[in-house]
Amino acid sequence: MNIIRVKNYEEMSLRAAELLLKRLKDPETDVIGLATGGTPKGMYRELIRLSRENNVSFKNVHTVNLDEYVGLAHDDPNSYHTYMARYLFDHIDIPKENTHLPDGTAKDLERECARYEEMIKELREINVQLLGIGENGHIGFNEPGTPFHSRTQVIALAPSTREANARYFNSMDDVPTHAITMGIDTIMDSLEIVLLASGTNKAEALRALVDGDDVTEEVPATVLKNHPNLTVIADDDALSKVTSL
Ligand code: GLP
Repeated sequence: MNIIRVKNYEEMSLRAAELLLKRLKDPETDVIGLATGGTPKGMYRELIRLSRENNVSFKNVHTVNLDEYVGLAHDDPNSYHTYMARYLFDHIDIPKENTHLPDGTAKDLERECARYEEMIKELREINVQLLGIGENGHIGFNEPGTPFHSRTQVIALAPSTREANARYFNSMDDVPTHAITMGIDTIMDSLEIVLLASGTNKAEALRALVDGDDVTEEVPATVLKNHPNLTVIADDDALSKVTSL
């Protein structure tokens, strides 16, 4: 595990964007895995700026997102479809057909999970997958207890995750109860993983990942200890409970 310790959110965002830009300059990189949430917003802003300044095109890149809420229309302000358009896709030259997210409005959700998994397989492999981390250690929407050997699946959101994400919705009742997420094995198949974390609310999850001895389904992110090419970019607050650095 390669850990890049930074001072704050701004520095995390810049370092992550620089790393991604470097990968995008490599013609071998044609599939990047993207994340949502509060954490990567600054990184997307920096990536848009840096890709313009460096004339880096996304024309030949495919993106695959980790997850999407079940039941939100694509144009719902809280859908991850809307998020990705707003924070990245509308500002870069990526062809829309190259951007992939699970369809949380599908009638047959199991079939949609299989389709998404098959689509990733057809792209061959994810060169670099970005990840945030939930306060309870979830990655994507793989909540504590999710079997490590899982592929794209429908998941019931943990009450703590619904509470953490309620800030974006009008009321708790509006927060979806389920999501489609890449499974743990889907994420682990990526050639490289870059996990971003900022803030003291992530400190316990980071402690389990960096300092903890256990690789346990109770803290999904601990599975990343087994990944051969993981970079963690985290700020002082997120690393405040890590003592081994
Ligand atoms: C969300 C997303 C995850 C994200 C995590 C942390 O619910 N499904 O992909 O990494 O929870 O979110 P945030 O960055 O807002 O703290």
